[in-house]
Amino acid sequence: MLILGIETSCDETAAAIVKDGREILSNVIYTQIPLHMPFGGVVPELASRNHVEKIVPVVEAAFHQAGVKKEQIDAVAVTCGPGLVGPLIVGVSFAKALSYGLGVPLIGVHHLDGHIAANYLSFRDLEPPFLALILSGGHSHFYNVRAFGDYELLGATRDDALGEAFDKVARTLDLPYPGGPHVEKLALEGEPLIELPMTLLEEDSLDFSFSGIKSAVKMVSEKIDMNTQRAHLASSFQETVFAIVTEKIRRALAKTGENRIVIAGGVAANQRLRELLKEIPAEVLYPPLSICTDNGAMIAAAGYYSWKQGKCSPLSLNARANLPLSSTKDMWINY
Ligand code: KG4
Ligand code: ZN
Repeated sequence: MLILGIETSCDETAAAIVKDGREILSNVIYTQIPLHMPFGGVVPELASRNHVEKIVPVVEAAFHQAGVKKEQIDAVAVTCGPGLVGPLIVGVSFAKALSYGLGVPLIGVHHLDGHIAANYLSFRDLEPPFLALILSGGHSHFYNVRAFGDYELLGATRDDALGEAFDKVARTLDLPYPGGPHVEKLALEGEPLIELPMTLLEEDSLDFSFSGIKSAVKMVSEKIDMNTQRAHLASSFQETVFAIVTEKIRRALAKTGENRIVIAGGVAANQRLRELLKEIPAEVLYPPLSICTDNGAMIAAAGYYSWKQGKCSPLSLNARANLPLSSTKDMWINY
């Protein structure tokens, strides 16, 4: 079973060919980061136009690198939400056209379903149940993955996502966009000497709140000598937010009795987080760095498990900026 996966929900135009939901034959990612860098964040209209320009060459490259012809694929999977609606429409429209032209099923995929499925590509034997924590630019969500495609939301951020907090703190620290990797690098040069608020919310809560610490970093930055203390501030921010994340993981494991958790999304690329999570008394899995951030392979992998359950999408599939993971059922028809 060969699936073409397409991802255009934000600032990456990505396409991949995946075999049987587990084996990556190609994974092509064109990143628009340099395009948006001067603006300090993604400019949706620029992103949409750039996706239009790049979608054809990126998909062509995915076929070429996999050594697969278009007629050989069995389905087209595409991110249909959540994300920036203009960029999503580019991928969804392209996927619909290709699915119609080739006469193969179309599979709408939830972006977070994709991030979780990235783990199926790295751990060939991984099967639900397990816990999943998604830490990306738009999400900080805990799920209980009860079966393939069956998610129970356990907790989520009440304000900023963790990646978003990294990006905003990076701006305060005068670092380029996207901020996560730059904050991580700068933190290596400092020590966590500055006390910042560690917001854990109610005792049994699995929700997050990162806006307080983000604002605190801004306030502190206006008071300290940024020439000498910048790296300490980066380190203090990173250590505090990761202390929050590790505490929440402990709570989630205790609450559910699970002993396995997968970490997904762009922030999972952070090496310091990975180091800290070694102390968690459970099996902690992450995809390799290359498939932590947005890519088409994870969309193809998630699409495979939808397809296996007979869940494909009608050609009326639409892009949706907001799409809760539990509400994807209405985008499927049964084949
Ligand atoms: O999953 P992703 O590629 O896109 C979304 O779906 O949002 O995540 C991007 C986010 C950005 O906010 C970026 O700053 C953050 O992940 N990120 C990191 C690291 N690499 C990417 N955050 C912390 N440390 C990193 N090494
Ligand atoms: Zn993502």
